Amino acid sequence: MSQSVLFVCLGNICRSPLAEAALRQECARAGLDVVIDSAGTGDWHAGQPADERAQAVAARNGVDIGHLRARQVTASDFRDFDHIIALDNDNLRDLTAIRPARATAKLSLLFDHVPGREGEDVADPYYGRDNAFDQTWAEVTEAATTIRKWLETA
Ligand code: 4NP
Repeated sequence: MSQSVLFVCLGNICRSPLAEAALRQECARAGLDVVIDSAGTGDWHAGQPADERAQAVAARNGVDIGHLRARQVTASDFRDFDHIIALDNDNLRDLTAIRPARATAKLSLLFDHVPGREGEDVADPYYGRDNAFDQTWAEVTEAATTIRKWLETA
C-alpha cells in the first residue's frame, strides 16, 4: 500500500500547497506512488484556491495547482495519513496540541528532513517580497528530495 503524507501550514494557501506540489513532482519523477495532500491549522481560507503567487511559482516550475482548495486539518487526518509534516514550528506546536490520543500519523517538521536545516521554519511568504514565493519553492523542493528518499527507504 502506498504511503501518505499531509503537509500543514497556517492558511493552506501558500506554503503547504507548494510543498504538496513539490513532493508530487519529485515522486512522479522518481516513479514513487505516494498519496499527498495539504491542509491548514486555520480555517480562514477554507474552500479558496491557493494564493495566486503560489499558483504562479508552481506553474513556472511545471506544476499546476489551480485545482487545489484550502481546508483545515481534521482529527481524522491523524489516522488517515502516515505522515503529517509541519511547515514551521508554530504549525508543529498547534498540531501537537490538537493531536488526538489515538493518532497514528507521525508528526514532523519539514526542515528536520533536510540535513543542516533541522529546526528551521519555512518562512511565511504571504506578506513577503516579490521573490518570497521563489524562496518558498526552493525550500520545499529541497525538502521534497530528501523526503522522497526517506519514503523510499521507509
Ligand atoms: P500559509 O500562508 O500558511 O503558507 O498558507 C498564510 C496565508 C494566509 C494567512 C497566513 C499565512 N493569513 O493570515 O490570512
